[in-house]
Amino acid sequence: MPRPASYSRLQILLHWLVVILIVVAFLLSDQMDDWEDLPADAALPFHGILGLTVFFLMLARLALRLFRGAPPPPEADPAWQKRVAEASHWALYALAIATPWSGGFAFYLRWEEAADVHELLKTLLLLTAAAHTAAALYHQFILKDGLLGRMGLERR
Ligand code: HEM
Ligand code: HEM
Repeated sequence: MPRPASYSRLQILLHWLVVILIVVAFLLSDQMDDWEDLPADAALPFHGILGLTVFFLMLARLALRLFRGAPPPPEADPAWQKRVAEASHWALYALAIATPWSGGFAFYLRWEEAADVHELLKTLLLLTAAAHTAAALYHQFILKDGLLGRMGLERR
């Protein structure tokens, strides 16, 4: 896989757009409380529209990741941390792609089990993203290696 020196502007834009959409999808998840009372052909509530958008943007990100690549992990990181970081990035791709599918299966196919899977996946997504955020902040403020600059948050 290619290892460019930095993330592209498009990769950075998509990273933060997806973060915002996921946060708002979480905040608006009450919209789905009574989803079983809605007819299957009802207009998809905004929660679902946000989630479907996340799905398509993550596909674009995955393609960029595979064909354009990502910069190598910070030089100074021990090998195990590089492996954990790499694995958690792939886990975030997998979870942010699978969570919308499970929601869609629940909503469109009236599939109870898919709703349970959706609840599980959104929890895993939340936990993984929280650990990922903590790691990014640890790099930035404890190790002071300027990691956030790689995702466009440079101090000027
Ligand atoms: C990354 C995208 C998504 C995230 C982070 C997300 C997150 C959530 C959260 C936090 C809940 C509340 C669960 C609870 O009450 O414990 C929920 C419920 C729900 N979401 Fe999503 N969702 C996403 C995408 C979608 C999509 C694309 C659809 C439909 C097309 C959808 C349909 C539903 C449904 C039907 C429920 C109710 C499930 C139930 O409580 O039985 N979601 N979602
Ligand atoms: C829903 C929340 C989030 C998701 C789904 C997410 C997802 C991802 C993914 C998949 C990557 C890997 C990109 C790649 O190499 O292909 C990444 C990298 C990164 N993310 Fe996030 N992220 C989230 C929140 C955050 C937050 C809140 C911060 C900052 C506090 C952050 C900072 C970073 C940084 C600095 C990188 C680059 C890491 C590196 O180059 O080694 N992310 N993110």
